[in-house]
Amino acid sequence: MRRVELRREQVFRGDVLLVNAAHPLQGEAPRRLAPPSGAFPDILMENRAAALLAACVAAAGGAGRIRPVSGWRSRAEQQKLWDDSMAEHGEAFTRSYVARPGCSEHETGLAIDLGKTGGALDFIRPAFPYDGACGAFRRLAAGYGFIERYQKGKETLTGIAAEPWHFRYVGAPHALLLLQNGLCLEEYADFLRTGPKSCTLPGGRAARVFYIPCEGATALAELPDGCCQLSGDNVGGLIATVWGE
Ligand code: DAL
Ligand code: ZN
Repeated sequence: MRRVELRREQVFRGDVLLVNAAHPLQGEAPRRLAPPSGAFPDILMENRAAALLAACVAAAGGAGRIRPVSGWRSRAEQQKLWDDSMAEHGEAFTRSYVARPGCSEHETGLAIDLGKTGGALDFIRPAFPYDGACGAFRRLAAGYGFIERYQKGKETLTGIAAEPWHFRYVGAPHALLLLQNGLCLEEYADFLRTGPKSCTLPGGRAARVFYIPCEGATALAELPDGCCQLSGDNVGGLIATVWGE
């Protein structure tokens, strides 16, 4: 074991950030962006999320069948989307389907809206069905680190209506733990606070996940030797992932 000093600013960086109306994005804008699909070079995600999305779409047989619709958005783009939606669709619709500027996962570069190729495209609510290649993508998504972020039944927790097209990269251990336990991201930190959790990835690699509170300027943590990844939760602590064999 090694003793590590964690700094408060780490709470606001990482792949497992909770971003919603109560928890605006506080860190910097993502710097390393790439298109998940060469056919849509203007739709960007954070590098690693883009590569894993492309791999998941390919594994699902989604080439030519699944298209990215909206990835990283600057704060100004989110503001324009909000303003345009308010003008066109009104307040109830906008509050249901568009996050407030500064509070959108799209500003992290870790979120993607996906659509089924063909037909008219609805930019705010693209069709992404449960069958065919889209269904195959859904079944594989967690293993590649993606969650369907706004699920039916979780609206009171997320503050957003069900959005079967919006996927969020969190990393495979977290996506699998969320899926297997029927949780949305708003519920994850409390779940981890109850004790360390283990999961096995599709390839057989094991991971152990635990929560480290960091409410003050710094916190001391005992971390195991070896490979350990940390992500802030954007609330009050860090989520540690320790990889096994
Ligand atoms: N549609 C999601 C909630 C966003 O605007 O970030
Ligand atoms: Zn979205």
